[in-house]
Amino acid sequence: MDSLRFGILSTARVGRRRVVPAMQQAPNILVRAVASRDARRAQAFAHALSIPKAYGCYEDLLADPEVDAVYIPLPNSLHCQWTVKAAQAGKHVLCEKPLAASAREADEMIAACEANHVLLMEAFMYRFHPQNEHVLGLIQDGAIGPVRMVRAVFTFTIGSSNIRLDAALAGGSLMDVGCYCVSVARTIVGAEPRAVSAFANRAVGSRNRSSRCSRTAAGILASAGPRFTDRYNLRRGSFRRRWLRSRRSRFAARAMRWRVRLRYGTDLFSTE
Ligand SMILES: NC(=O)c1ccc[n+]([C@@H]2O[C@H](COP(=O)([O-])OP(=O)(O)OC[C@H]3O[C@@H](n4cnc5c(N)ncnc54)[C@H](OP(=O)(O)O)[C@@H]3O)[C@@H](O)[C@H]2O)c1
Repeated sequence: MDSLRFGILSTARVGRRRVVPAMQQAPNILVRAVASRDARRAQAFAHALSIPKAYGCYEDLLADPEVDAVYIPLPNSLHCQWTVKAAQAGKHVLCEKPLAASAREADEMIAACEANHVLLMEAFMYRFHPQNEHVLGLIQDGAIGPVRMVRAVFTFTIGSSNIRLDAALAGGSLMDVGCYCVSVARTIVGAEPRAVSAFANRAVGSRNRSSRCSRTAAGILASAGPRFTDRYNLRRGSFRRRWLRSRRSRFAARAMRWRVRLRYGTDLFSTE
């Protein structure tokens, strides 16, 4: 079997520490090139990971005929732009999660890849973890009976200088870790949500440094039943009552903001 020759767009930490070393262990992948906005950074990355070619801009890597596919671990706001450019250059794309900053961007990326007959894949590696596959198998086999509720939380501490804290780069905890919670809930429930509620820590993008969050966190409650009948064990007071009230007040869905006492979140809005 021919090897797939990869180029890496950027010297991102996840590429350096996780993905490129893993690719280099795969029998059917060759990591041929890396590109950075800074040529010296690209060279240092290439040297550290024994990659034959280093480019001082992303466009040059896309023009390399010895690259079949690109791995894109850029800030979220750049995923769409560089996926489209890679597709137009005839490269298959493995793009980091979250795939896009909006549904419109995701549609644009899919359309570009389809038009150029290249594959597009989101690097949501958890879906392929044997543990996850085992859990899904158990659920499908009815090991726990009908699923009535999924509660997922993903949280970790983070420094103050990070692309995840920059709203202009499509950062934020929902984009960074909440996407896992949303993904796993949809996978387990096997259906699309009928109503969505969210809470957010406004510190992301805040001008007030002292209020910057030191933790990125996101969670999801998904009810698989026909209605909310479960009692939630979060410290959020009358969440259920407010959620039900929100269903009656559809006209004001976007404007709604409630103070809730979630552990890290401060504001809740709801929409259907
Ligand atoms: N699947 C996973 O488990 C996983 C884990 C971690 C992260 N990720 C995803 O991977 C992506 C990168 O995360 P990371 O933590 O590795 O990021 P990072 O270390 O901050 O790297 C981002 C890279 O993007 C390039 N870049 C281009 N324009 C930039 C700009 N305006 N500001 C900052 N950087 C810019 C930079 O490379 P050059 O300067 O070399 O061009 C930078 O090194 C994100 O989408 C994240 O969600 C996924």
